[in-house]
Amino acid sequence: MLAASIFSADFANLGRDSNAALNAGAALLHVDIMDGHFVPNLSMGPLVCAAVRRVCPEAFLDIHLMVTDPKDFIPAFIKAGANSVTFHVETVKDPKELAKFARDLGASVGLASNPETPVLAIEPFLNDFDLHLVMSVHPGFSGQGFIESSLAKTKWIRERVGSRARIEMDGGVDPNNGARCVAAGADVLVSASALFGKPNVALAAKALLDSFSTTSRVD
Ligand code: DX5
Ligand code: ZN
Repeated sequence: MLAASIFSADFANLGRDSNAALNAGAALLHVDIMDGHFVPNLSMGPLVCAAVRRVCPEAFLDIHLMVTDPKDFIPAFIKAGANSVTFHVETVKDPKELAKFARDLGASVGLASNPETPVLAIEPFLNDFDLHLVMSVHPGFSGQGFIESSLAKTKWIRERVGSRARIEMDGGVDPNNGARCVAAGADVLVSASALFGKPNVALAAKALLDSFSTTSRVD
């Protein structure tokens, strides 16, 4: 599945761009939340999420919380229309407890980890989440180069969770590495700049989706 990260959309035309991505075959909208603390950038808050929900009433909204205190913001994002909330393992003491907190409010839950975070940090929680998000760039900005070592992390997670959880790769995904992400075990691939950074979103989505169904292998 292609997750369109609206972080690279035209914010003055967010409704237009979000719907264009969905019409072009994106299965979900990925909403990057940055607090200027966990990552050195600011993006958007619940009001923007609610606005996207209004213009895309049927879309699956996948909220990626790159914030130091995710618990403080999860209720507001779910109220604003989030279907799924993903927080970073680096930010929470008790990921299981926070997963339950979000689930009780009606969202599915994801656990994200940065490129340098070892798999041992997420190993205790592999079966407590609907989704594992593998960062394939350092979080905070779109348009960065894909970090190849993230493929091994995806493969490691997939070998352990089987079909019990989705694995999302996020950052630097493009038609040149999409097939390798799928071969490693990813089933949700996020794209911002390779989608909205192109002159034609429909063609860019097609190039990404075609690459996902190309056969590849990971050693
Ligand atoms: C990075 C964000 C990503 C980002 C992806 O901090 O989590 O979702 O928007 O951007 P691209 O696809 O351009 O690497
Ligand atoms: Zn993201």
